Amino acid sequence: MENEEIMGLRKAHLYPTKIPYYKDPIQLVRASGSYVWDNQGKQYLDVIGGIVSISVGHNHPQIKEKMKAMIAEDAIQHTTFLYLSQYMAELGKKISDVAPDGLNKCYFVNSGSEANEMAIMSARVATGEQMVVSLRHGYHGGTNVPLALCGHGTWKYPAQPQASVVHAMAPYCYRCPFNSKNGCHMECAEDVKNVIETTTHGKIAAFIAEPVMGVGGFIDPPVQYHKRVHEIVKSYGGLYISDEVQAGVGRTGKHFFAIEESGVTPDLITMAKGIGNGAPVGAVIAKDEVAEAMKGKLHFNTFGGDPYQAMQASEVVDIVLNDNLIENSKVMGNYLKEAFKDLQKDFPVIGDVRGRGLMLGLELVKDRKTKEPAANEAALLMELSKGEGLLIGKGGLYGNVIRIAPSLGISRSEADELVTKLKASFQKLS
Ligand SMILES: Cc1ncc(COP(=O)(O)O)c(C=O)c1O
Repeated sequence: MENEEIMGLRKAHLYPTKIPYYKDPIQLVRASGSYVWDNQGKQYLDVIGGIVSISVGHNHPQIKEKMKAMIAEDAIQHTTFLYLSQYMAELGKKISDVAPDGLNKCYFVNSGSEANEMAIMSARVATGEQMVVSLRHGYHGGTNVPLALCGHGTWKYPAQPQASVVHAMAPYCYRCPFNSKNGCHMECAEDVKNVIETTTHGKIAAFIAEPVMGVGGFIDPPVQYHKRVHEIVKSYGGLYISDEVQAGVGRTGKHFFAIEESGVTPDLITMAKGIGNGAPVGAVIAKDEVAEAMKGKLHFNTFGGDPYQAMQASEVVDIVLNDNLIENSKVMGNYLKEAFKDLQKDFPVIGDVRGRGLMLGLELVKDRKTKEPAANEAALLMELSKGEGLLIGKGGLYGNVIRIAPSLGISRSEADELVTKLKASFQKLS
């Protein structure tokens, strides 16, 4: 089908909330490793992977082989929690093995939003409390509770209920909400305490945050931020939920789950995107006692843990561990971050380079002193990169942060290609 025809059908039959990237949107039809191809045969280096969903590379051979074998033997495509399935059980074990000690109980769903819905409900049931603290600039999904948790006006609708959710300031160092100029005293962490004391009755169900904030523009808090917040949350009886939909699966280059770098053992971790490498898999892993608190009532998810999806997620865990992809994220992430810092020296529009592992952001500003967001420039840079055969992402409240989140297996030559193409795009922009 031609692009114009698809655009016409989208306009006629799909919600207007889903806006494609680029003035002339592209139709991606083929993919392998770090590369994708459009319907005209043009090749792109893909360093955004949908939206941070490709963890082990497009069409990974190990996953393809398993899938072919399952099709060849007419493996059941759909079954539910109500029957036994080796794939779901194996995946539960594999995720428990890579999760921090004490987190052993999984619940499988199809998306990050559903995973967060389940995590919040589990926390509310386990504590008997309602209030949840989330962060400004945070994003946790598009369903009811996650949208209430969301810290971006751009994603909220006038009719969005905000029941029992309050927001603390974001640990956004480049735009410190406390204007902290004399070294970081982490006022943002103390703000969680202040929010609990001033806007709740003094007990909370949970605190939820992304270790590195994805949609917010790869906002990377000081590592000790989460540790201090964890202490505060515990002192008010709350559970700590680490939303690792973007940051998990080794992307930040130290641990399978990013929160571990802060020395925090959360009560629940949610995941999606990278854990399925493009397959619609979402999951919660909880401490035993949190999951146990849900006992006595039914909860059902039709497609969560389906054989093909669960198989793909299991393979992702194996590939990340066996192919040393966490180490590669660290090495390639450091390499790319240095290269982006070099670009920053040449291009004043790059106000900040930040991130960990292969979760790297470049915040574009019109002026380094005023830090006025350069949203049009970010949009133009995306167009220019597309012309260079490079797919990048963008985020941030003002849409002025370029997001780079390639496959965790990106090679040195692919990283060099990324830098060359990005540099050429910045040159054209300036
Ligand atoms: C951190 C985070 N949590 C949750 C979600 C929601 O995931 P999904 O779109 O799969 O519902 C997203 C999606 O971007 C996300 O970035």
